Amino acid sequence: MSGAYIELFDVVDPDDPDAALIRGQLTGLPGQVLDLGGGPGQWTAHLHDLGVEVTGIDMVPEFVMHARAMHPGPDFRLASLFDVAVPESSVAGILAWYSLIHLSPADVRRALVGFRRLLSPAGVLVLGFFDSDNGVGLFDHKVAAAYRWPADTLVEELTSAGFVELERGRRQVADRPDRIYGTVVAVATKELQ
Ligand SMILES: C[S@@+](CC[C@H](N)C(=O)[O-])C[C@H]1O[C@@H](n2cnc3c(N)ncnc32)[C@H](O)[C@@H]1O
Repeated sequence: MSGAYIELFDVVDPDDPDAALIRGQLTGLPGQVLDLGGGPGQWTAHLHDLGVEVTGIDMVPEFVMHARAMHPGPDFRLASLFDVAVPESSVAGILAWYSLIHLSPADVRRALVGFRRLLSPAGVLVLGFFDSDNGVGLFDHKVAAAYRWPADTLVEELTSAGFVELERGRRQVADRPDRIYGTVVAVATKELQ
């Protein structure tokens, strides 16, 4: 599974709107950034190249080995996004780019609460996900089954976990009319809930 994913997604196109969003939100922050579920490490490397103190974390050894081999600069760690060994409130930004898509709704809830604990107040969370106009649901993704989420529902989960929505986006591309690519940027509230 990781080999197929690496072949498809290991390169960042700097002109892609996703790259502009990730750069715009996660550079220049006052502290470290975590790329949680960073897979092959392309976004970690992109941010590292822009001077961000960024760590890529993934639970699949093949991804972490590939990331270390392809991108010698940044720190890549093998860990679960539910169990990241950094102190609470010590992180300025988190990227979770399509890394919550395979999690059940209950686990997404749990992950967001954990992300909020890691972030300092006003810390920034950037999510990439599959958007939906028809409720939360599973579909066959190229690599493994994945969930679609209406952005409103995901934002409700973010609010419950202690975030305020900053902006959201959605777009479709001509060769994948069945997919809606969604993004949400949210900021950690002052108080931990
Ligand atoms: C669809 S891939 C996205 C990878 C990368 N963020 C990207 O944009 O190419 C989902 C990634 O999330 C990782 N992942 C899923 N659940 C995880 C967990 N509990 N802890 C750490 N990584 C996880 C998977 O191993 C995989 O690398």
